[in-house]
Amino acid sequence: MTFLFLCDATRGTVFAEVFSKHLPDVRFCMEPEAVDNDDIRFVMTWNVPDNLRRYPNLEAVFCIGAGVDQFAGATIPPGVKLIRMVDQGITGMVVEYVAMAVLSLHRNLHLYIDQQRRRVWEELEQHPQAVDRRVSVLGMGVLGEAALRGLQPFGFQLSGWSRSLRSIDGVTCHRGEAGLREMLARTDILVCLLPLTGNTIGILNDDLFSTLPRGACLVHAGRGRQLDADALVSSLDSGRLSGAFLDVTDPEPLPPEHPLWAHPRLVITPHIAASTQAESAALTTVQNVKRLLVGADPTGLVDLAELSESNFSDQR
Ligand code: OXD
Repeated sequence: MTFLFLCDATRGTVFAEVFSKHLPDVRFCMEPEAVDNDDIRFVMTWNVPDNLRRYPNLEAVFCIGAGVDQFAGATIPPGVKLIRMVDQGITGMVVEYVAMAVLSLHRNLHLYIDQQRRRVWEELEQHPQAVDRRVSVLGMGVLGEAALRGLQPFGFQLSGWSRSLRSIDGVTCHRGEAGLREMLARTDILVCLLPLTGNTIGILNDDLFSTLPRGACLVHAGRGRQLDADALVSSLDSGRLSGAFLDVTDPEPLPPEHPLWAHPRLVITPHIAASTQAESAALTTVQNVKRLLVGADPTGLVDLAELSESNFSDQR
């Protein structure tokens, strides 16, 4: 029985060690040509391999990242499970990124960075205090919930929005279209951690920005295609929004001539909010393979029907 690893060799070396220690009965392999196709039961990848049907005994495809939007429209053979990476290594990094960006916007760091570029020494008014600042998170899955919990010690007023109603202590939870508008109208810093689906493409648009109170800020660590970049630039120019952190863009990398780069109230990071940490991801994967081997559901199992319904290739 073989676990075929089709990702980078650096992480692969760590995975190989963890597999040989914790799952010695499963052969870990990074070279598809070195194994018989019939022997491959599990594949780990980021991009969709072109023909998974060549592995007749394939049980599961593991995505090495948290997001699986790249698999929408892919042909996953019937009966084969798709599993996304739900791992403390990724979650912890997202918590850090969101806390960093929210605190930076709250304390005007984006404006001080711009002042520094212009060699201006000027104290800006610091208000409101964290207890009076309303921070809302779009998407309350594993990452959204962890980000909200990570913000709790600072005393912000926290809200979250998700498709189905969630309940998190100390967080005002919303759902549905009406819930979204209600939350946005009471948001000073909006954090997007939504997965990319047909419903979330272009969700960060003029309409959404104009529902936020004047001067609100945005932290975007979802997917680039969720953001209407022109709407962001005009909202920042008009003062409708007062600042933003972007970790994702469309396209990636963002071309040097793109207007987003030069905006003085925008901080751009190159999709680094989280990256898969080899050691913890390997242990998580081993646990998941063990679950599959005894017929249990793995953590991070993707609903393939829901993914294929996303059908977002024609919606922009
Ligand atoms: C992921 C990401 O999906 O880094 O893991 O965006």
